[in-house]
Amino acid sequence: MKLNIACIPGDGIGPEIVTEAKKVLNKIASVYGHEMVYTDILMGGASIDVHGVPLTAEAVETAKAADCVLMGSIGGNTATSPWYKLAPGLRPEAGLLALRKALNLFANLRPAVLYDELADACPLKKEISQAGFDMVIVRELTGGLYFGERYTTEEGGVRKAVDTLTYNENEIRRIAIKGFDIAMKRRKKVTSVDKANVLDSSRLWRKVVEEVAADYSEVTLEHMLVDNCAMQLVKDPAQFDVILTENMFGDILSDEASMVTGSIGMLASASLNDSKFGLYEPSHGSAPDIAGKDIANPIATILSAAMMLRFTFDLDKEADEVERAVKNILEKGYRTADIMSEGCKLVGCKEMGDLLADEIK
Ligand code: NAD
Ligand code: IPM
Ligand code: MN
Repeated sequence: MKLNIACIPGDGIGPEIVTEAKKVLNKIASVYGHEMVYTDILMGGASIDVHGVPLTAEAVETAKAADCVLMGSIGGNTATSPWYKLAPGLRPEAGLLALRKALNLFANLRPAVLYDELADACPLKKEISQAGFDMVIVRELTGGLYFGERYTTEEGGVRKAVDTLTYNENEIRRIAIKGFDIAMKRRKKVTSVDKANVLDSSRLWRKVVEEVAADYSEVTLEHMLVDNCAMQLVKDPAQFDVILTENMFGDILSDEASMVTGSIGMLASASLNDSKFGLYEPSHGSAPDIAGKDIANPIATILSAAMMLRFTFDLDKEADEVERAVKNILEKGYRTADIMSEGCKLVGCKEMGDLLADEIK
């Protein structure tokens, strides 16, 4: 099979982790007889430096022409990088948001699984980490605060900034359907997370989620307020199967969920629309503090590539093989710095990629 993959290495650790993901994909290609065709796209700071904008129309067209997009991460140090002196619409993140919107990637899936082997890297109490957990956060990705009207102004000499949070029922319904469909293939439980005690958008969210739930009699639905959810994630993560939530809550909760898996370097993600197209990227950022040091954990990106094989290309056996390789390498005791624990073997980003590629037989 020929796989046409648009590739966005991006900024910071992005190019390092994408290189390792390609190494693993190339090994899959040689073992299973596929052909990987990569077309690189500039986005974020890398595009600003060349084109003066974080995403060009040509880059969007290249992405659309591919079967899917594999991405590292974009952005720089938001306090010190000159990219953050530009107008907001010209900063690195604006490129990512524009691409998500252009490709209609409204469903962001972020699986948070605690591997048995990483129980020691989990910062929770032993009895919680030993019980393990396996959840997926289904995050709405093209609406809410991220895409509402926003402006900064001055009224009577007082500076004022406005961001607006809007959802319509269609946006809520389509992500809720995704969440319930996913739950049907898992443990059949959806926890819909909102702030319905305060926000109108959350009250509509709850109503529409309940309407969708009526078509899924086998799935148990519970509602949880987002502040409680933040607490429950560290108290009892095993209670969650599918967490269904809006854009901003999903962004924040997925970083929290990542840390209880051991590290944000473990959390993969897939951003999907209603077709087989997807953008696959780790949930973490460009980690400017460790860029260029060969210490980043490439596993989140490699697991995102596995999600790509499964969702876009229906290559389940190949995806299983990548996931098995990750498990085996962790079992053999290899760790990047972020998941290191006593008695394990410390490896860099490149060596982790080599080990994982070698593990694919
Ligand atoms: P970050 O996720 O980049 O880093 C947070 C912390 O986690 C840092 O200490 C970093 O070293 C560590 N970390 C992240 N990924 C790691 C990995 N693979 N291995 C080991 N350690 C890892 O978040 P931040 O520092 O808040 O943001 C940095 C930049 O990244 C910002 O410009 C932000 O906008 C951008 N960002 C981009 C994306 C994306 O491209 N999807 C996601 C989040 C943040
Ligand atoms: C993520 C990131 C992005 C988001 C930023 C970089 C725009 O934090 O993918 O989680 O907030 O969606
Ligand atoms: Mn985020």
